[in-house]
Amino acid sequence: MPAPVMIITGASSGIGAATAQLFAAKGYRVVLAARRLERLRTLEKEIKEAGGEAISIQTDVSQLSQLENLFEETLEQYGQIDILVNNAGFGRLMWLDDQDPEEDIAAQIRVNITGVIQASRLVLPHMIEREQGHIINMASVGGWIAPPTYSVYSATKYALRGFGEGLRREVKAMGVRVSTLYPGAVMTEFGQHAGVKWETEVTTPNWLLLSAEDVARSVFRIVKTGRRNLVIPRIMHVAIWFNAHFPWLIDWILSKYFHRKEGASTEWGVGDG
Ligand SMILES: NC(=O)c1ccc[n+]([C@@H]2O[C@H](COP(=O)([O-])OP(=O)(O)OC[C@H]3O[C@@H](n4cnc5c(N)ncnc54)[C@H](OP(=O)(O)O)[C@@H]3O)[C@@H](O)[C@H]2O)c1
Repeated sequence: MPAPVMIITGASSGIGAATAQLFAAKGYRVVLAARRLERLRTLEKEIKEAGGEAISIQTDVSQLSQLENLFEETLEQYGQIDILVNNAGFGRLMWLDDQDPEEDIAAQIRVNITGVIQASRLVLPHMIEREQGHIINMASVGGWIAPPTYSVYSATKYALRGFGEGLRREVKAMGVRVSTLYPGAVMTEFGQHAGVKWETEVTTPNWLLLSAEDVARSVFRIVKTGRRNLVIPRIMHVAIWFNAHFPWLIDWILSKYFHRKEGASTEWGVGDG
């Protein structure tokens, strides 16, 4: 039987790269997709040197034609798609009125929501025909709790909850699984693209920080168990519960930590997506 095939968007760094490495080591043929082709090729080389199988396909998930090309090329080269990990995404953690309407707001929506929906739509006919397949969407704890400056980013991750839930129920009978992963803060390049310009003395404590490899292992757990939703680290369930039942308390706590100061530019946390 041929080895299963996994497509990972956003495989050029962080969680996507770690997921590709883990699944390649487990015998999957991995398809690396992102815009930075050089990064993908370097990772592809590393995977091959370690005895794994990988191909790189340059893809901007906000461009429908490039997504179409990703699936066509994958089927041409590998003949099947078993798992799609919709991982590509970014956050601009800025006050809403500081966000550029196009570069920040529309771009987050195009990548984090529309890209996920379009990619899922494109892969489905193939999975339905085979009566098997798994779509895994990378949301965030920001899809359960939205702090100040996360309004747009959290809107995109809350959206993935609704999309994942509806699609899961839509395609289950056809043999296709849909799961959503909600990591807390992960040490990746995420923070470098976030444009943070607010001031607080609080940083995410080290014991709460996840590594990209931790998240990759959770993707593996989802594949093995077929779980619908997974929040990591587990302690985040407590914060999510308090946010749902005592939103005034979370409002009060967060108001202590987010201060708008003109010209301030102090980072909070490492990646906190
Ligand atoms: N870090 C966190 O704290 C955290 C927490 C929870 C959830 N997440 C989520 O985890 C996912 C991965 O983030 P990360 O932490 O690993 O950050 P990262 O290291 O910055 O990786 C982001 C990846 O997304 C890709 N990407 C961005 N825009 C893209 C586009 N238009 N088309 C294709 N690929 C694109 C980037 O590749 P190119 O630039 O090469 O295209 C990169 O590979 C994101 O969805 C993020 O929201 C992160």
